[in-house]
Amino acid sequence: MTPEEKLWCLDGDAPTWAGLRYLHDEDGYHRVAFAAAQVDRLGLPGIHFADGPRGCVIGNGTAFPVSMARGATWDPALEERVGEVIGQELRAAGATLTGAVCVNLLRHPAWGRAQETYGEDPHHVGEMGAALTRGLQRHVMACVKHFACNSMENARFSVDIEVDDGALHEVYLPHFRRIVDEGVAAVMSAYNSVNGEWCGQSQALLTGVLREEWGFEGFVISDWILGIRDAATSLTAGLGIEMPYRMVRARDLPAALERGEVSWLDVDAAVSALVATLLRFDDILSTPAPAREALGAPEHRALAREVAAASVVALRNEVVDGAPVLPLQPDLSIAVIGRLADTVNLGDGGSSDVWDLDCHTVLDGLRGAAADIRYDDGSDPAAAAAVAEAVDAAVVVVGYTYLDEGEFIGGTDPALMSLFPESDEPEVVERYQHSISDLPPTTKPARHTERPRGFSIGGDRDSLRLADDDVALIRAVAAANPRTVVVIQAGSAVIVDEWIEGVPALVQAWYGGCRAGEGLADVMFGEVNPSGRLPFTVPRQEGDLPEFVRDATSFRYDRWHGWWHLRRNGTAPRFPFGYGLSYSTFELVDSALEIGDAAIEVRATVRNTGDRDGSDVIQVYAELPDPDAPPRLAGFQRVEVAAGAESVVSITIPLARLQARDGTRRGWVSPAGKHRLVVARHAADPQPREHVVEI
Ligand code: BGC
Repeated sequence: MTPEEKLWCLDGDAPTWAGLRYLHDEDGYHRVAFAAAQVDRLGLPGIHFADGPRGCVIGNGTAFPVSMARGATWDPALEERVGEVIGQELRAAGATLTGAVCVNLLRHPAWGRAQETYGEDPHHVGEMGAALTRGLQRHVMACVKHFACNSMENARFSVDIEVDDGALHEVYLPHFRRIVDEGVAAVMSAYNSVNGEWCGQSQALLTGVLREEWGFEGFVISDWILGIRDAATSLTAGLGIEMPYRMVRARDLPAALERGEVSWLDVDAAVSALVATLLRFDDILSTPAPAREALGAPEHRALAREVAAASVVALRNEVVDGAPVLPLQPDLSIAVIGRLADTVNLGDGGSSDVWDLDCHTVLDGLRGAAADIRYDDGSDPAAAAAVAEAVDAAVVVVGYTYLDEGEFIGGTDPALMSLFPESDEPEVVERYQHSISDLPPTTKPARHTERPRGFSIGGDRDSLRLADDDVALIRAVAAANPRTVVVIQAGSAVIVDEWIEGVPALVQAWYGGCRAGEGLADVMFGEVNPSGRLPFTVPRQEGDLPEFVRDATSFRYDRWHGWWHLRRNGTAPRFPFGYGLSYSTFELVDSALEIGDAAIEVRATVRNTGDRDGSDVIQVYAELPDPDAPPRLAGFQRVEVAAGAESVVSITIPLARLQARDGTRRGWVSPAGKHRLVVARHAADPQPREHVVEI
């Protein structure tokens, strides 16, 4: 490669201003992948990047339930199938690399992008992200993001996260490592800084942790547009490609090389990591892409429906007049209430937005399942109550939209404007115009009540409660009809305490994708026995969680959040991590351990004590000998159990999962002493089975 070709590989191929205009004026984000490092003379294809977490954002792809919904399935095998389908659609749309694997930890449910990750626990998030990666990488290269500690949204361009080595490696990084071990092609750095270093130019993270400690051999890309601040520092720290435009590097790197602030060896290292990865994926990427018709194919929508049903978490189902409210009988008259019931509510309006044209609402889904459905938009609670009073059962759909939570795409901090180039290079503009001149058509979704039109502002939630009018609606309907089911659409935890006692049934249905309605109806009418489990804790009040400061400029992450934070404070959750109801009931009847040299095998027997076949999720929690160490999820397994029967699950827990970080040596140690392994059905199971292992 010539020196110019090498430098060409270190940032996006598009010119900054023309690229931004294309995004803004022509919806370019949904039309074509972002290209980088394409060197035609050598036949080097470079990368063609598209998001994302809930489906292919280019063209009119299938919108899947958001990642958090899929986290609630606790089903890595299902997630792998989702990855396969998203991967096929991405390839069909011309992408070869995707940012679909977002695994920042849900440190607090107010995080605007909560819906793009899988939950609050590192092991669970890691297993789900690894499964998605496996599926995707049968078709495209996957990129895991955002490395690291990016669990606040509004402040993402400015906040410094202070975190010690123990909290970083035990809580905020294990899931990234799991996905690196799975063979992920690329890592995207985060916008924020960690311990004073911007993540896009953090020697400690990109070289110290990623390359030296974990042996990562793929390539690193920056987050979009303002992902690095200094060309030379980012390169020496180990960041390969500045995405997506010719910005800081194109302008500053040649001079930095001349001044000797960075060397050609650093350039070679970055280019080699990219080329080596492209070669590793050559078998996959040189096979012909699926036809464009793969986008939104019927079998992909069937999977979206299956996942939507599997993700529903039944949280409450009281007996009214001798029978639980759910499942509903299709011959009942049912009032469906709330504007969200009649809304295509797919979630975030930022980088994960999928332009799916064929989306069914909750109302569509319920109408397809029962004959007598009466809809009221809920704008007048008294009118809604009158509709509810006249029917056998009422379903109230409440929650959030992309306006309440999502990626924050606000104005650019004026201090960062100096990172933009003064103008574009004419020959780069010409090449770029050519690359976007002849693209297959993409249709913009018609305006719908809650659909974003262009990028939305989104951001962190300002409350974990429902809006006052939602609460008033729930109260009015529940008072009018004793068989009321509340359906929550949201990306993470919603505090329900102020109204839950007056409501007999509650389900969390997320942003359920293009078949949200059918998936929910499958569960509500009993075609599918609910088996979703919460991937986070729902507290009784916001004060039970650690602090969240939306506009912090610096913030400390420690080892305590999630269910283990509540446990340490002796606070009971409203709904525990790992919890969810079924139309059946289960009992853990037996468990045993077999301790090997490298792993512990946990075998547990679960009995279905109800009269319907169903699935349960067996969870193993580990408590280390040090009473000050947070307990952790160490393994889990979904299991199907026929009515009245027993099933045995076997869960392997590598001993490495019971290690603790030794911050002074920056390494891992196996704490000697008694480890408690708790086999349970959720994190606050009153009847767990406990084992003590002496190490
Ligand atoms: C987001 C990334 C995303 C990228 C490209 C950024 O604004 O933070 O998650 O992958 O845009 O879509």
